[in-house]
Amino acid sequence: VGFKGRDVLSILDFNREDLETLFKVADDIKANPFKYSEELKGAVLATAFFEPSTRTRLSFQTAILRLGGSYIDLGEIERSSIAKGENIADTVKMLDSYVDIIVIRHRIEGTAKFAAEIAESPVINAGDGRKHHPTQAMIDLYSIHTFKGGIDGLNVAVMGDLKYGRAATSLILGLTLFKPKALYLISPPELRIRPEVMEYLKQAKVNFIETSKLEDCISELDVLYVTRIQKERFPDPAEYEKVRGSYRITLETLKEAKDDLIILHPLPKVGEIDLKVDKTKHAKYFEQATLGVPVRMALLKLITRG
Ligand code: CP
Repeated sequence: VGFKGRDVLSILDFNREDLETLFKVADDIKANPFKYSEELKGAVLATAFFEPSTRTRLSFQTAILRLGGSYIDLGEIERSSIAKGENIADTVKMLDSYVDIIVIRHRIEGTAKFAAEIAESPVINAGDGRKHHPTQAMIDLYSIHTFKGGIDGLNVAVMGDLKYGRAATSLILGLTLFKPKALYLISPPELRIRPEVMEYLKQAKVNFIETSKLEDCISELDVLYVTRIQKERFPDPAEYEKVRGSYRITLETLKEAKDDLIILHPLPKVGEIDLKVDKTKHAKYFEQATLGVPVRMALLKLITRG
C-alpha cells in the first residue's frame, strides 16, 4: 500500500515489500547523501516527546535537517502549556496546524494512534509505553539486512525484557514479515513475551523458542539483539528487584559464538553488556544507531513525497 501520507503507528502497518522499499531508499541515501539534501525543502517536522530520548528525537531532527527541511520541538513538558492543564488533543491540533509531520513519544499506550485520529498530517509513533516503537524496528531490520546481507534463514535471538520492552516487541513482530530460520526469545521467566505477542507469533507460524539461557543457543546465533530491563515500566519496584542484573553479556559469554555473530541493541544500554564487548567485532550497536538517520530520512521522504 506504500508510504505516502501514512501514519506510522506499528511495524505491522507495513508489509515486507514496504520495508524492502524503505531499505532501498536508505541504501541510496547512504550512497548519495547530497542527492537528497533538498528533498524536503520547506517541510517542517514536530518532535513531541513526553518521555526521555536521545536517539529517536535527535535522529528524526537530524533526518529532516539533512533532507533540507526543519523542525520544531515541544521541549520540556514543564515549559509547554500542558503544564497549565492543556490536553494532548488540543496540543496535537496546534502542532498539526504548524507542521507537516508529527513525531510523538508518550508513556501511555495508544497515544500516537489517538494523535493520528486528530491530526491530518502523518503521525509517527516514536514509542508508546511498552507497546510499539515501529521506527526502531525499521532500523533494527535494516541493520540485520545491512550487516548480514538479508534476514531470511538467520538464527535471531531477542534477549532481555520482552514483557515491557517496546523495541524488543516491535522487532519480534517485524521479524514475522521475514523468514528467519529460528527466533530465540531469551529472558528471565518474569519478562517473557506478552500473551498477545505469543499469539501473533503462533498465527504467523514463526519457529520460535523461549528460553532463559543464552548458553543454550549462543553457538547457533547469527544475530543477538540485547535489550535493557525497562525499570521505569515495572508497576511494582519489588518486581524489578527480582530481575535486576539477571543477565549480562561478557567476553566469556561469547566464547562459543559464531565468528560472524552480530550483537545489536536499541540503546541505551545500562550494564547488560560488558564494556569490553564494545571493542569486539561482534558489537554493531553503535553502527546500528547511526543507521537511524538514513532509515528515518528514507521514511520521511517516503511518507511525504512517496
Ligand atoms: N532506541 C531508542 O529509542 O533510544 P532513545 O530512547 O534514546 O530514543
